[in-house]
Amino acid sequence: MSTHPTLAESRPTPEPATPQRIAQHRRYLMCRPEHFTVSYRINPWMEPDRPTDTAKAVQQWQDLYDTYVRLGHDVELIDPVEGLPDMVYTANGGFLIDGRALGVRFRVPERRGEERPFMQWFADHGFEVIEPVEVQEGEGDFLLVGDTILAGTGFRSVGDSHREVAEVFGREVVSLRLVDPRFYHLDTAIAVLDPVEGPDGVERANIAYLPTAFDEASRAVLTERYPEAILVDDADGAVFGLNTASDGRNVIVSPRAVGFIAQLRERGYVPVTVDLSELLLGGGGIKCCTLELRG
Ligand code: ARG
Repeated sequence: MSTHPTLAESRPTPEPATPQRIAQHRRYLMCRPEHFTVSYRINPWMEPDRPTDTAKAVQQWQDLYDTYVRLGHDVELIDPVEGLPDMVYTANGGFLIDGRALGVRFRVPERRGEERPFMQWFADHGFEVIEPVEVQEGEGDFLLVGDTILAGTGFRSVGDSHREVAEVFGREVVSLRLVDPRFYHLDTAIAVLDPVEGPDGVERANIAYLPTAFDEASRAVLTERYPEAILVDDADGAVFGLNTASDGRNVIVSPRAVGFIAQLRERGYVPVTVDLSELLLGGGGIKCCTLELRG
C-alpha cells in the first residue's frame, strides 16, 4: 500500500472562490432636486424646522447621476415641479416591467401632485400606462427579484395593491409587512442585488435585508425563500444602507453602511459609495432617487 500523497492531497485546500459578478445594463429615471426642501413631515426622518440646503442636495444627487453614467447606465430625467419637494424620490413614481408602467397612487396627500407628471412622462416615453386603483407607492414598495415581485405594506401601500400588481404584471407577488416606522417603504429594508437569470436558466436572485424591519411571518418567508440573503444589522439599516441600487455587480451604497459594504465585498460585489446625506433629511436615499425603467 502506497503512503505517498496524491498530487491533489499535497496541495493546500483552496479558499472557496468568490463568485464573479456580472454587471447588467440599466435604464433609470431620476429627478434633479431643484425644489428640494423639507416642508412637511410624512416619515420620522423629516423635520420641517431643520434647515435644508438645496444646492447641496443637487450636488449630492449629481454625484449619483454621474456614478450611474460612469458605470455605463442610461439615466433619463423628469422635470422637477415647484411645490413638489419629494419628486426627487422617483422610485415612488410608478412600477415598470416589460414596457408597461403601473402609475402611483400615493397614500400621503402631500405627494398626490406627482401622480400625473409621472404617468405623463411614462406615456410620453412609449410606456403603456396603467392607472392604479389601489393605494401604493410604486417601486418604493414593489421590488422585482428575479421573476417575483416582493411587495411591502404596513405604512404606505395597502394590501389590496399587491393583488392589483399581481394582476397587472401576471407575476407571483409575495407580501411582506413592515413594522418599524423608520423603514416605511420596502426599499429601505430590502436591497435587490442580483435579480436576473443566469445563462443556464437558473435564477440567481438574491437580496440583502434588515430582519428587524419586518414582522415575524414576513421574516419567516424571507428566510425560507432567500437562504443566501445578506442579513444587514441595525446600524447599517439605520443609515439607509439597504437603500441601494445594484446592477448585479456594482452596488451603489451609502458610505456610512460600513458593515454592509464589507459583507458585499465578501460576496464578490463591488460597493460604490455615494453620500446623499442631504436627501436623507427627507427620508430618502440612493434607491429612492432611482426608478428602474424596464423596457
Ligand atoms: N419624503 C418621502 C416620503 O416620505 C421620501 C420617499 C422615499 N422613497 C422611497 N422610495 N423610500 O414619501
